[in-house]
Amino acid sequence: MSSFSTNLIAWQRCHGRHDLPWQGGDAYRVWLSEIMLQQTQVATVIPYYRRFIEFFPNVVALAEASEEQVLAHWSGLGYYARGRNLHRAARIIATQHAGEFPDQFEQLLALPGVGRSTAAAICAQAYHQRHAILDGNVKRVLTRYCGIAGLTAVKSVENQLWLLAESLLPERDMATYTQALMDMGATLCTRSKPKCEQCPVQGACVAYQTGRVAELPTPKARKVVPERQATFLLVMSGREILLEKRGPSGLWGGLWCLPQRDEGDNEYESGWTIGEQITWPVFTHVFTHFKLHITPRLVRLVHKPYQIQQAGSVWMDVDEALNAAIPTPVRQLLEQIGA
Ligand code: ADE
Ligand code: SF4
Repeated sequence: MSSFSTNLIAWQRCHGRHDLPWQGGDAYRVWLSEIMLQQTQVATVIPYYRRFIEFFPNVVALAEASEEQVLAHWSGLGYYARGRNLHRAARIIATQHAGEFPDQFEQLLALPGVGRSTAAAICAQAYHQRHAILDGNVKRVLTRYCGIAGLTAVKSVENQLWLLAESLLPERDMATYTQALMDMGATLCTRSKPKCEQCPVQGACVAYQTGRVAELPTPKARKVVPERQATFLLVMSGREILLEKRGPSGLWGGLWCLPQRDEGDNEYESGWTIGEQITWPVFTHVFTHFKLHITPRLVRLVHKPYQIQQAGSVWMDVDEALNAAIPTPVRQLLEQIGA
């Protein structure tokens, strides 16, 4: 047995995290936590996870819910494709697995939103099966521990890391070991200023022993983040606001959004009788791949238009909208109206 896994398991027992709400949970809970944690920090995930479990206590409850309800509970977490895939996967489990959470790696891998590392994390944590995880944190730990240079996004480097991850697995204690790797990556072997003095594997760490910790993993070239601009219309009639449901795909797919206009476009629907218009200060919402500069424009209508509503758009009370499936910038704007 490698000293890597032995040392990590011993370290986890004394210094790892033991109070995460999904620890020791069933496969459904582990799966939910893994999906939420894919692109979001533990501290942000915890309150969402708790509310989600309260509302959807098992996979059948999740399958029986509407996508609308699921996205409403995902609202604010971002990367909404995760929520849509979670719901689709729950329905697959309900129909194709008779509501029993699958316990085979290949079956898990076949679910939407579940990749190799997530399937392995579920197998290891919920079923104590011997499968290797390799998420961003683990890639960082292994490139340093094994002294692997090269971009981790490059297929050959990634394949090498998978082989190493598998070769380092312990014979038993898979749940503890898997949590240890995650906790090590999150608390000790951090991207900047890793705490190598406290590390249980520093004696065999190639990067530490050769003074290359700061160089590994090989940094990606910085990309310029594209910037876009949009006008968000806050079309109000009394306490009601006009919202449009986005199509099934895209960043905000399935969410209720504000009618959007390009810069300088002041044309409105023909049925609107406008009372007042106020332009609010520009604010910026940062996505992973671009920045969106949002100009909010409040448009108060004298009365609700007589025209039959467009498909996919609704008038919603502001307080009701705050409990619906809306993205963060829309929530921020609605909170300003409510205030
Ligand atoms: N990131 C992904 N899975 C995690 C877990 N189980 N604990 C902490 N961070 C994680
Ligand atoms: Fe990471 Fe430092 Fe430990 Fe090496 S010694 S695994 S670089 S924390």
